[in-house]
Amino acid sequence: MTTLAIIGGTGLGQLAALNITHRETVSTPYGNPSADFLIGEIHQKQVVFLARHGNPHTIPPHKINYRANVWALKHLGVQDIIAVAAVGGITAEMQPAHIAIPDQIIDYTYGREHTFFDGNDGNVTHIDFSYPYCQKLRAALIHCAATLNLKISPIGTYGSTQGPRLESAAEITRMERDGCDLVGMTGMPEAALAKEIGINYASVAVIANWGAGKTAGEITMAEIEENLHHGMANAGALLQSFISTY
Ligand code: HPA
Repeated sequence: MTTLAIIGGTGLGQLAALNITHRETVSTPYGNPSADFLIGEIHQKQVVFLARHGNPHTIPPHKINYRANVWALKHLGVQDIIAVAAVGGITAEMQPAHIAIPDQIIDYTYGREHTFFDGNDGNVTHIDFSYPYCQKLRAALIHCAATLNLKISPIGTYGSTQGPRLESAAEITRMERDGCDLVGMTGMPEAALAKEIGINYASVAVIANWGAGKTAGEITMAEIEENLHHGMANAGALLQSFISTY
């Protein structure tokens, strides 16, 4: 059974090292996932890959069917998710092309289908979310980065915004005051849904740009693509190392 899934975000629409053996189309009670699930092997380990924004990349962050994606992964037998995400950097260490393994989340999203426990079955369920990310998976990723001599940030608070627009400078200032180190658009409700359904979840956050107002001028897509190009190459190496020891 395949127990490890990689969810790829912007800049990681496919896993080059994955020897694909088959694809699965999964229909769920919540509708369709973002794409077919690609199942294959890396270093003789079975891995499921899902392109979060679809294949091709057409689904914006606020329209992703997070519930269908996470439900389908559970249905496929997945126990551990490594979610790769492009983010903006807020605090000093989080410079473009750098990688962080976040340990906390603040949710600024709204209007998303964000729970499996919507009360429709007459039950009221509150899950614990004190530590949104799996400490064991995080420790393994941090260890792999060290063995690769890859300098990463081993902690960080991820602020999840609604998008698809980037933030105003004042919003980034507020997020920094709140304690956010990173800003992205897909961390929630993905992390919470994984917790609700009982899948361990950790994230590899690749910094694509400085958050709004942190540099003079506008944030450009060209800058984001250039930084992701470098950062995702390191993220790919980190994932391969992680998978080889999985
Ligand atoms: N803000 C939100 N999400 C992002 C950013 C950003 O600056 N960069 C990449 N994803």
